[in-house]
Amino acid sequence: MKRWYGGVFSTSFIMLLLLGYYIVQNPIKENYFTSPVFNYTNTLSTNPLEWITMAAPPADPNPENSAQKVVSIEKISSSLFRPRNYSLEEKESLHTWNHLKELVSHSQVFPNAVDAIREAGGAWNNLMSSVEQERTQSNGSSQRSGKQKQCPHFLSKMNMTALDDNSFKLWVPCGLTQGSSVTIIGIPNGLLGNFKIDLTGEHIPGEPDPPIILHYNVRLHGDKITENPVIVQNTWTVNHDWGEEKRCPPPNPEKNKKVDDLEECNARVGQDVKHGQNRPANVSAKHPVTHNGSNPKKYFPFKQGFLSVATLRVGSEGFQMTVDGRHISSFAYHETLEPWLVSEVRISGDIKLISAVASGLPTSEDSEHMIDLDVLKAPPLSPRKQLDLFIGVFSTANNFKRRMAVRRTWMQYEVVRSGQVAVRFFVGLHKNQMVNDELWDEARTYGDIQLMPFIDYYSIITWKTIAICIFGTEVVSSKFVMKTDDDAFVRVDEILTSLKSVNVTRGLLYGLINSDSHPHRDPDSKWYISPEEWSEETYPPWAHGPGYVVSSDIAKAIYKNHKKGHLKMFKLEDVAMGIWIADMKKKGLEVRYEKDERIFNEGCKDGYVVAHYQSPREMLCLWQKLQEGKRAACCSD
Ligand SMILES: *[C@@H]1O[C@H](CO)[C@@H](O)[C@H](O)[C@H]1NC(C)=O
Ligand SMILES: *[C@@H]1O[C@H](CO)[C@@H](O)[C@H](O)[C@H]1NC(C)=O
Ligand SMILES: *[C@@H]1O[C@H](CO)[C@@H](O)[C@H](O)[C@H]1NC(C)=O
Ligand SMILES: *[C@@H]1O[C@H](CO)[C@@H](O)[C@H](O)[C@H]1NC(C)=O
Ligand SMILES: *[C@@H]1O[C@H](CO)[C@@H](O)[C@H](O)[C@H]1NC(C)=O
Ligand SMILES: *[C@@H]1O[C@H](CO)[C@@H](O)[C@H](O)[C@H]1NC(C)=O
Ligand SMILES: *[C@@H]1O[C@H](CO)[C@@H](O)[C@H](O)[C@H]1NC(C)=O
Repeated sequence: MKRWYGGVFSTSFIMLLLLGYYIVQNPIKENYFTSPVFNYTNTLSTNPLEWITMAAPPADPNPENSAQKVVSIEKISSSLFRPRNYSLEEKESLHTWNHLKELVSHSQVFPNAVDAIREAGGAWNNLMSSVEQERTQSNGSSQRSGKQKQCPHFLSKMNMTALDDNSFKLWVPCGLTQGSSVTIIGIPNGLLGNFKIDLTGEHIPGEPDPPIILHYNVRLHGDKITENPVIVQNTWTVNHDWGEEKRCPPPNPEKNKKVDDLEECNARVGQDVKHGQNRPANVSAKHPVTHNGSNPKKYFPFKQGFLSVATLRVGSEGFQMTVDGRHISSFAYHETLEPWLVSEVRISGDIKLISAVASGLPTSEDSEHMIDLDVLKAPPLSPRKQLDLFIGVFSTANNFKRRMAVRRTWMQYEVVRSGQVAVRFFVGLHKNQMVNDELWDEARTYGDIQLMPFIDYYSIITWKTIAICIFGTEVVSSKFVMKTDDDAFVRVDEILTSLKSVNVTRGLLYGLINSDSHPHRDPDSKWYISPEEWSEETYPPWAHGPGYVVSSDIAKAIYKNHKKGHLKMFKLEDVAMGIWIADMKKKGLEVRYEKDERIFNEGCKDGYVVAHYQSPREMLCLWQKLQEGKRAACCSD
């Protein structure tokens, strides 16, 4: 089953897709952007962050001098690792935090890694001062005083601010998440017939304009390039300026790709329509549509003077625009411009705005009125006892609902409740304070979150893989370490049974193994991998990201190699794991690759051991079916 939010591609390919776009649009910076081993020395000339050096912190007598200031990576990360007085509960979510200090001190980091750490430093300072403040207000008691500021479920035009130039802005305090949507009802008007919807990110201190995660510009009278009406979509950031425009209708219809299985531009847009009909004519030369002399009309979703209902949805691979119930356009997410970063919706130009609603927004559950809180809390770790399995779940700060669904479903397996198997969410910081505040409360309430000392950009996801290896071997001692995602349903008991029957404790990679995959070498491909990133023609065997298991010796070796700076970084975390294991194999490790076809990385099939792309509702349904004693049967919304 493919649904709009259940992308066709494994998550590991989304990154490639994004990167592909980037490379096409910015060939000059290719070197900076595609090098998986980010070498500060040889990328200084093209690196937009060139004011950062790896040197020791310079003695800067004038900290106000920020524009010219050369800041070291140590200095950038200093606020993250400054010793603080954490309570015991707070320490629970920081077990891997200090171990990850090495991430930032190694030169082998990814593009955006420096941004991710610097921005995390600011976010962490803000969070810590708000925690401090509440602590003093409540006179030392660690209890948070009421929840005045909670992420809203939905927002409407009433929450909008009208600006003087007929534009409106809506503050989205906790970002968007998969399944969120923004619906705008309005009538295009005015002389120029141009209006736009911008989704912008957080303001960057010192920059006048925030990044634009999606610029959706409707030009009813065309522009320099076309006389006909057109929709132009793009992104904008300080470092990279405007990206590559995506036009609808596109100048080259043959390049009309798909995002979330939906056309980037509905093929009807810009096509002739029969009189009075919204259908495209059959443009066959033999049977031309008869018009009485005037130009044939072209289909376009927006029309001057006519009311339109436009809904922008957050999909798995990109934003989807539906107008009056019809899919019109898709726009793939770009690197570092992911939907959870959206902090404002701006609507401006020649449009009479009648209504606007943002719904499906990420919110956390109110734990104060929760009856089943005790069974949702993570059982305490017992450091002396060896675990059978440690499961690290990759999650993003505002995915509150997905984490709750995991807690209510497969984290309720007896083996998890009894502490034989431990499960932890690995979550990076968000740029928005309200999200971090809620994440902090959630971490303290459930005790099952590991905070990461970086902003959760997709491009540095491999760092989390290292973090789960650290947790599984340094924080707890576990025979096996598993990685999964927060939209995956894991039948933990089946995984344990499989591991038992495989009956090896060393050198194991278990999962949906792919032994015959190649890097995409066509630079136009969404999945392009440059020879600098991976020079060989094939990848070593690797297991798909939604659910794989390694034995503890492998996890230990990964942490050890990482500490020494010997770990090759690769942006697809699941392939990276395969690469690291192949490296150990070359050095003499006897590796057992154990493929399990019941692990599904593109949805669910009956008899699954791991099902991927499951919405919170489907997760609960899967669990219920298992509880009712039915065979592992799938659900779909
Ligand atoms: C980085 O590049 C410089 C110059 O090209 C080279 O000397 C150095 O060994 C490289 N470092 C890494 C970690 O690749
Ligand atoms: C932690 O608390 C102790 C005692 O309350 C205090 O002496 C110390 O300065 C505190 N440390 C930090 C980093 O706040
Ligand atoms: C904290 O303590 C001060 C003085 O000890 C008291 O005036 C104040 O009301 C207390 N605040 C709270 C929230 O208990
Ligand atoms: C949005 O507006 C409604 C109605 O005025 C208000 O109750 C709500 O608190 C607002 N939400 C936010 C996040 O400002
Ligand atoms: C268009 O016209 C051709 C030739 O008459 C016909 O074979 C074809 O089925 C038509 N297509 C549609 C979509 O009506
Ligand atoms: C052309 O079509 C329009 C709209 O249907 C109609 O008003 C007009 O009279 C027609 N002109 C001729 C010359 O047939
Ligand atoms: C597991 O392997 C060991 C030796 O490799 C063997 O002695 C044992 O019987 C095996 N256990 C099962 C359940 O196959």
